[in-house]
Amino acid sequence: MLKIGSLQLSNWLIMAPMAGITNLPFRMIVKKMGAALVTTEMISAKGLVLGQERTLNYLRSSAAEKPLSVQLFGADPAVIRDAAQLAVRKGADIIDINLGCPVKKIVKTGAGAALLREPQRIKRILSVVRNGCPVPLTAKIRAGWNPQSANAVSVARLAEDCGVDAITIHPRFASQGYTGKADWSLIGRMKEAVRIPVVGNGDVLQPSHAIEMRAKTGCDGVMIGRSAIGNPWIFKHILLLEKGIDPPSPGIGERRDLIMEHFEALSRIVGKGKGVGIMRGLLLRHTKGLPFSSSFRERITGIKDMELLVSTMRSYFSSLEGIAF
Ligand SMILES: Cc1cc2nc3c(=O)[nH]c(=O)nc-3n(C[C@H](O)[C@H](O)[C@H](O)COP(=O)(O)O)c2cc1C
Repeated sequence: MLKIGSLQLSNWLIMAPMAGITNLPFRMIVKKMGAALVTTEMISAKGLVLGQERTLNYLRSSAAEKPLSVQLFGADPAVIRDAAQLAVRKGADIIDINLGCPVKKIVKTGAGAALLREPQRIKRILSVVRNGCPVPLTAKIRAGWNPQSANAVSVARLAEDCGVDAITIHPRFASQGYTGKADWSLIGRMKEAVRIPVVGNGDVLQPSHAIEMRAKTGCDGVMIGRSAIGNPWIFKHILLLEKGIDPPSPGIGERRDLIMEHFEALSRIVGKGKGVGIMRGLLLRHTKGLPFSSSFRERITGIKDMELLVSTMRSYFSSLEGIAF
């Protein structure tokens, strides 16, 4: 079982932070599906410290999703420390520092993956936050800025020296974005280099991949991102597979009920207006590969009314009853 600092998790599976995706309703669903730890999307440390309402809203949580890891991005050690303290006051159980986001708008502020080019700044950030943060501290990194500066293992050692409690590695370079394949061998090299828990991430597309990643690399935990978007069952299925049980494919009724649950939580938390846009995007992922999904996807394009979206979704799922796929 994975232990991060003083925090004992119920298993070794972690939901990845994903901007625009891992909001409270989504996190509650994957938690129910067996993820031992869920993470907010990356939150601007500066926005929190400035008290921006929109940024503070990202800290909204619920007892049902606990424990919660709050991911912060920024470049100023004192600002990140102050934001971490605020997040802990609002209920964060773990603070995670983003050292891997390759998105231009983040990198140009010196945050995210830009920090991989400045290990001394990483050291300052992690030391200052460590000293001021009363809960376990983790960091999430990529393989390096680019192949010419592959420094993930030395950054992991540096993080360990600063008192970080666990490190997550998504073994692609920032310069790669999401192209190519995650280089799992780097997860194994990192595991050999540090004593703190190593969480492997990248390209776990089906349950067997999580088991395979752990067996091949010796990593302590596995973090799952994109494949959980349309398939939150993946956590449950990995835990079944680990016990030698072949995971069943979720039936139509189960899929529809889960989507409805998500709809309702989104409507309650973000409101129907904003929820409908998020839900349309999620429906595209949830129906990928299902029969007649392309005509359904066309039908929901541009729907702005929640009731209409729900009834279109319901009639699509009813039309699938009894079809084997
Ligand atoms: C839409 C999207 C948003 C993401 N947002 C974040 C983020 O806020 N913080 C972060 O550390 N990584 C973020 N990531 C990266 C994921 O956490 C993860 O490292 C990456 O998707 C690789 O894992 P996967 O192959 O399981 O998806 C994001 C990825 C996607 C696809």
